[in-house]
Amino acid sequence: MGKTAIVFGSTTGNTESVAEMIAEKLGGDASILNVDDMSSSDFESYDNLILGTSTWGSGDLQDDWEGSIDDLESADLNGKVIALFGLGDAESYSDTFVDGMGKVYEAVKDKGCTLVGAVDTDGYDYEESEAVVDGKFVGLPLDQDNADDETEDRVTNWVESFKSLLK
Ligand SMILES: Cc1cc2nc3c(=O)[nH]c(=O)nc-3n(C[C@H](O)[C@H](O)[C@H](O)COP(=O)(O)O)c2cc1C
Repeated sequence: MGKTAIVFGSTTGNTESVAEMIAEKLGGDASILNVDDMSSSDFESYDNLILGTSTWGSGDLQDDWEGSIDDLESADLNGKVIALFGLGDAESYSDTFVDGMGKVYEAVKDKGCTLVGAVDTDGYDYEESEAVVDGKFVGLPLDQDNADDETEDRVTNWVESFKSLLK
C-alpha cells in the first residue's frame, strides 16, 4: 500500500476515536494526524487521504478544519485517492447533518483526485445534509450522539468498500 494518512479535526474526541478505528480496520501503517498540524505540503506527501471532520455551530466545519481548509484547497491533490468521513448529530441537528463533510468535499472535488467511499442514505434519519450529492453521502456519516452502537459495523463495511481502491 502507498502512504496513507487519516486526518481528523475533533473538538470532543469523537472524530479522533473514529480515526483510530479506521486505522485499525485498514491495517497497515496509516498515519493518524490532527488537521491542525497539517500544511499543504503535508497533504501532498500522502498517496491516500482519509479526511474526517465533525460539524459544529449550525452546519459549520469543526474549528481546526476551519483553520486548515485553505491549506487543503491549495494543495496539489492530483492523482490522490480520497475518502471522507463526518461526525454529526442527526436528531438535534437534523437539517445540517454532517454538513462539515460536505464542506471538505467541496474543497477536494475538483482537484483531480479520485473520491471513494460514497455511502447510501438508507438507514440515516435526517432532514437535510450538504454532504448528500446526487442522492448519496459523499463519505461515511457517523452519529456518536444517537447511534454509536452502529459505528463499528458502519466503519468496517465502509473501509472494506474502498480498501482495494487505495494506492
Ligand atoms: C453546539 C453544537 C453544535 C453542533 N452542530 C452540529 C451540526 O450543525 N450538524 C451536525 O450534524 N452535528 C452537530 N453537532 C454534533 C457534533 O458534530 C457531534 O457531537 C460530533 O460527534 C462531535 O465530534 P468531535 O468530538 O470529533 O468534534 C453539534 C454539537 C454541538 C455540541
